[in-house]
Formats: sequence, structure tokens, C-alpha cells
Amino acid sequence: MDYVEKVKNATNFVRSKIDHMPKVAVVLGSGLDVIKEAVDVSQKIEYKDIPNFPISTAPGHAGEMLFGRWNETEVVLMNGRFHYYEGYSMKEVTMPIRLFQLLGVEYLFITNAAGGINHAFVPGHPMIITDHINFMGDNPLIGKNVEEWGTRFPDMSAAYNPELISFAEESAKELGIEYYKGVYIAFSGPNFETPAELKMAQYFGADAVGMSTVPEVIVANHGALKVLGISSITDRAIPNDLKPLTAEEVIEVARKTGEKTAKIFERVLDKLKERL
Ligand code: HPA
Repeated sequence: MDYVEKVKNATNFVRSKIDHMPKVAVVLGSGLDVIKEAVDVSQKIEYKDIPNFPISTAPGHAGEMLFGRWNETEVVLMNGRFHYYEGYSMKEVTMPIRLFQLLGVEYLFITNAAGGINHAFVPGHPMIITDHINFMGDNPLIGKNVEEWGTRFPDMSAAYNPELISFAEESAKELGIEYYKGVYIAFSGPNFETPAELKMAQYFGADAVGMSTVPEVIVANHGALKVLGISSITDRAIPNDLKPLTAEEVIEVARKTGEKTAKIFERVLDKLKERL
């Protein structure tokens, strides 16, 4: 079975299980489980039950799609994402985004835990992503283009929707949440970066570094979904002052930061309400 057929089968399965088609999908990165509690979940679909779907293995990541209402809006939460470093192909990593596109989702809210490269960044604050650098050495769009899904050479001049960025900023201000804005660079991982790599990323103009999000955002743009991305800054990834880092530390800070991100998203949903 080819990829297009696999995605269509998976989508048909999901469609047959749900009563309401959401226009908003939320990808829960590390520590963002808090969003689950805010959502009135009506339908839970485990990845292992979806035909042709990958299963996530990373620590702190579950493997289920949750459908329900959040702030009076129908949403689908992707609880557990697929990382390139787990050994999945870029097509597998981004299969959920294609599925969302085929379901009719129009807005993608995406989150991650990231190291702060910008000297001014203090861990524990959200960073609204304004742009990204694909430094993963691969791209989910490589291969024959599927014309019905998007164009061969998709525009990425505003990969993170400017209107959603301003809604997120307004929301953070209204809520009194301190936030940053910046460029996210994705490495493949799974190791954290060396000081020399981080120095390079600084020269490149990145503000935060992580191991996800970029493949999903590329596919979302190809599929004409509007993207809002927020990183949880969990640690200082400063080349000349680098402390040893563990995934456990990252997840702990990501939980606290995720609560702020969840509030911002909820307020952005308010601002989008009449369109959803
Ligand atoms: N590097 C890569 N990924 C990360 C980091 C980091 O410093 N912190 C959280 N995720």
C-alpha cells in the first residue's frame, strides 16, 4: 500500500469514529498534557488502533488522539507525537498532520520543549515561534508530490501564521504571561547539542533549539493549515555556559511552562471563535 492510501485509510477510520469534525488540532509536546485536563474529551482513539499509524516511544509521550470541546470549540489533541530520532521516516513523523488535513482541520497549534539559545531567555517561559530553520537533514516533502495535498514547491514565507502570532501575543499580554518570540531550529537529535553546534545555531539566528515541530510545520504549510507554534523554554542552551542536561529536567520545566502555553491557546481560541 502506498503512503497516500495509508493516510486515507487511517483518516477514514478516524472519521468513522467521531461525531464532530474539528477545525483545530493541537500537538502536545513534552509537558503539555495539562491541555488534556482543560478539554472535555468525548472520543479517544489510540494510535495502535488506527490502521497504518506509527506508535510513539519517547519518554513523557502517550499515543492517542483525543476529540472533544475546549473553550466551546471542537478540537483534536494529538497526545504523543513521533520524533525523527525514534527511527520513523519523515512521512511517518508527519502522518498525523496529513490526517488532520484530510479531516478538514484548518488550524494547527503545535508545541515543544526547547533549549534557549538567546542569551536573554530564562527557562520557564513560552516562546511564540515566528519562524524556523530546518536543520534535520531531511524533509517530509521529498519524493513524488501529491498534488491533491499541496503544491510541489510550497511557499514558506510565513510558515507561522502572522495573525495567529499577534493573537497569541495579545493573549499573553491580556493574561499577564511573560513570553518571548523567536526562531526555532530543529536538530535530528537524540543527543542534546554540543557547544560548537549551539554556537553555530546562534550564528544562524536561532533563538531556541529542539528536535521536533519543523517536519509537522512543513507539512501543515504544504497542506494550507494555519500554524501557531509555541515552545516551552526548558533550559539554557548557551554554548559557553552549558550545563549537563537530562530529559527529566526538560520535562519538569516543560510542565510548568506548558500551563502558560495552554492559557494562551485557550485565549487564542476565544479570538478565533466566530470562524470555528
Ligand atoms: N536541545 C534540544 N532539544 C531540547 C533542548 C535542547 O537544549 N531542551 C529541550 N529540548
